[in-house]
Amino acid sequence: MSDAQTYDVVVIGGGPGGYIGAIRAGQLGLKVACVEKRGALGGTCLNVGCIPSKALLQSSELYVEAGKGMAEHGVKVGGVELDLAAMMARKTKVVTQLTGGIEGLFKKNKVDYVKGAGRLVDANTIEVALADGGTTTLKTREVIIATGSTHVDLPGVTVDETRIVTSTGALELDKVPGHLVVIGGGVIGLELGSVWSRLGAKVTVVEYMDRITPEMDGEVSKQLQRILGRQGLKFRLSTKVTAADTSGDTVRLTVEPAKGGEAETIEADVVLVSIGRRPYTEGLGLDAVGITTGPRGRIEVDDHFRTNVPNIRAIGDVIHGPMLAHKAEEEGVIVMEMIAGQSGHIDYNLIPGVIYTWPEVASVGRTEEQLKADGIAYKPGKFPFSANSRARAVGDTDGFVKILADAETDRILGAHIIGPDAGTLIAELVLAMEFKASAEDIARTSHAHPTLEEAVKEAALAVDGRTLNM
Ligand code: FAD
Ligand code: NAI
Repeated sequence: MSDAQTYDVVVIGGGPGGYIGAIRAGQLGLKVACVEKRGALGGTCLNVGCIPSKALLQSSELYVEAGKGMAEHGVKVGGVELDLAAMMARKTKVVTQLTGGIEGLFKKNKVDYVKGAGRLVDANTIEVALADGGTTTLKTREVIIATGSTHVDLPGVTVDETRIVTSTGALELDKVPGHLVVIGGGVIGLELGSVWSRLGAKVTVVEYMDRITPEMDGEVSKQLQRILGRQGLKFRLSTKVTAADTSGDTVRLTVEPAKGGEAETIEADVVLVSIGRRPYTEGLGLDAVGITTGPRGRIEVDDHFRTNVPNIRAIGDVIHGPMLAHKAEEEGVIVMEMIAGQSGHIDYNLIPGVIYTWPEVASVGRTEEQLKADGIAYKPGKFPFSANSRARAVGDTDGFVKILADAETDRILGAHIIGPDAGTLIAELVLAMEFKASAEDIARTSHAHPTLEEAVKEAALAVDGRTLNM
């Protein structure tokens, strides 16, 4: 295999799964190429997902803080104004700096970056329609499919990315909509609904189920809805949208109870469709090589990420498991180590999930609902941020830490946090669970004072009914 276009491994897709995997392959001494058609590396996450959304969440939070949040601290700020164009320009700069940085990492790790759309011709051949025109053929021993996901369409509500948008359009609006209707009260709907609500839009979230974030711990969902409600978001639960009429100045949505009943109309300036994401494999040539997909179009893989064609593996959003960037990254690393002859394992139960609303929501492991359904006896330990001295000093007292421990062994089975910096606080619990720690292990670990982390320690103490500050 001496040809310059011949590789040990070719990765199709340059998102968190693909680009991290390619870097790891380079570190392991594999000859590797990464094919990406977007024109920039970083995938959904860096270009139109995690990073631009977090940039806007931060900017919009500052806008609210400056407008009213600081007064309570005795800091008077007059004449706060929104410069949306500047906010968007900052977001774009953050994205381009990060995506450009990956190109540097590729050079450092000897990864060939092939700009174009890859298509499987046979199990060892990928044809790339180059972004600059023409095609090239890559021969390879192993293939990694890391083509990610795209939004799910809602019948009757056709996306135009201007008035009826997906998350991509919602990250690019050039003015604050008067009324934003969000269809789907999940992660995207609540994060981007929060952004536009903070910037001045009236926001109504229409959710099919009887609660928002239906997969999360029920107590946390309820608290989140209450807090977001106080921030001005309106919720229409157990409700479905059946049609959208875009013929007038506003979008007229027909909604009705989820179980059927009388229809009514809601008028919106912009509609965000955020009812989930699905694997993206269009144009990839799965049929040409005979790769089968399972329910909801996910590529089926074994413990070694192998598809039914043994030298073609798949990782990230395109396979099973939570559609999260850090999950894709873990898989990218492990799959390359496997190809290099090492072993690896990922415990999907220990992938944390974070919603970057204010307050943040973070969870790992099992929810109370799951433990009950599985008949597992557990002890809950809960501690509110209102009793944490740092949260009081900072002025962010909404929320709590909840730890669920095995009733017999005290081993931590799940942890759920709603509150300031929940996304950072959860890391301690993920690590504890990786090490199979008990609640008592955390309770006996020294936590600096005064920190928000003390709420984690207190929740661990609460498992055994011995909180100290409550
Ligand atoms: P992707 O990132 O989707 O990358 C796949 C890449 O493959 C794309 O760039 C695509 O252009 C390319 N591609 C597809 N087909 C081909 C082809 N045939 N040839 C060449 N290239 C191809 N996750 C988090 O963990 N935290 C967050 O805060 C977060 N926020 C999000 C916010 C939003 C608005 C969205 C939409 C998602 C968010 N996610 C977040 C989810 C996260 O973006 C995904 O889980 C992650 O990007 C999946 O990585 P991936 O590598 O599997 O796929
Ligand atoms: P989601 O699965 O989080 O939420 C979709 C919501 O829409 C659910 O509450 C569901 O009950 C509801 N729904 C489904 N069909 C509906 C209908 N017809 N009418 C009304 N409601 C309906 O999906 P979302 O928000 O689109 O995000 C997709 C994925 O992107 C997430 O699951 C997550 O994996 C990833 N993501 C992660 C983020 C993070 O980690 N902070 C941020 C944003 C996205």
